[in-house]
Amino acid sequence: MKKLILDLDTGVDDALAISYALGSPEVELIGITGTYGNVQVEQGVRNSLAITDLLGHPEVKVYQGLPHASTKDSFAVGEVSAFIHGQNGIGEVTIPDSKREPETEPAVDFIIDAAKTYGKDLIYVPTGPMTNIAAALRKAPEIKDQLGGIVLMGGALTICGNVNAWTEANISQDPEAADYLFRSGAQTTMIGLDVTLQTLLAYKDTQRWRDLGTKAGAFLADMTDYYIKAYETTDPLRGGCGLHDPLAVGVAVDPTLVTTLPINMKVDVEGPTRGRTIGDNDRLSDSVKTANVAVGVDVERFLNELMTRITALAQQ
Ligand code: BDR
Ligand code: CA
Repeated sequence: MKKLILDLDTGVDDALAISYALGSPEVELIGITGTYGNVQVEQGVRNSLAITDLLGHPEVKVYQGLPHASTKDSFAVGEVSAFIHGQNGIGEVTIPDSKREPETEPAVDFIIDAAKTYGKDLIYVPTGPMTNIAAALRKAPEIKDQLGGIVLMGGALTICGNVNAWTEANISQDPEAADYLFRSGAQTTMIGLDVTLQTLLAYKDTQRWRDLGTKAGAFLADMTDYYIKAYETTDPLRGGCGLHDPLAVGVAVDPTLVTTLPINMKVDVEGPTRGRTIGDNDRLSDSVKTANVAVGVDVERFLNELMTRITALAQQ
């Protein structure tokens, strides 16, 4: 069976990504590694522990990752994230703290050990900054050939950003780490913002979770409504919230949900466009390909899969 590790800065869509993975019987979630971004790493780890408990999966181990970018500036976790995900990362919804602690093994070592143990069966899904996976690849470069693949949420092939017009949050938090990952030779699929923004969830969808009458359903609905409201405020015409991180998990489970193009991707690490992913026309003909980049998604099928899987999980 395919094994997944999710690397999360556990905000709202990261929590939906956990739910999608736990609602997918064809994969086993063998661990969550924590990163920073939407919230500080410690808060993200606490959220992952509490959410897996609430969703009835206390067996999922959670590992604490690195607390900040591998190099110079990473923008501080702050007001923008709090506005979108809430101060606590999960839409200001209160759920019981987990009695569990994170594992003592650091996230980077767990990633390396898991790659050696599970090899091609293992898909690593980073949906925050690429700091942990870049550190793992630096420490044990051989894992690039051992891992089954990496499906990351971040960047964009076209000019599309949520930090500014051209940079996406996960990549701009640690551009060097993302660039290192692209150049590492690891089998990488990039699910960018220009594709994830085509997949939206609306209040009518979250109402289905609330109507289940379960604690999990109420939590998912209330948390996601906070996120939809933030989207409504900043982008009233869009009609819902972007399903960024769940789409990366969806593709890890079923790669046919997206169409991809092999491209020599890189990341701008200098100047005013620092943090922008670049896959310009010239790179299409390069013989070096650093990532399979999503260019399209079967929106209807993905939304159907997401609702079916998460609703079934929240029903229990
Ligand atoms: C990404 O940034 C974070 O806010 C989300 O969780 C997602 O991973 C979208 O740009
Ligand atoms: Ca995220």
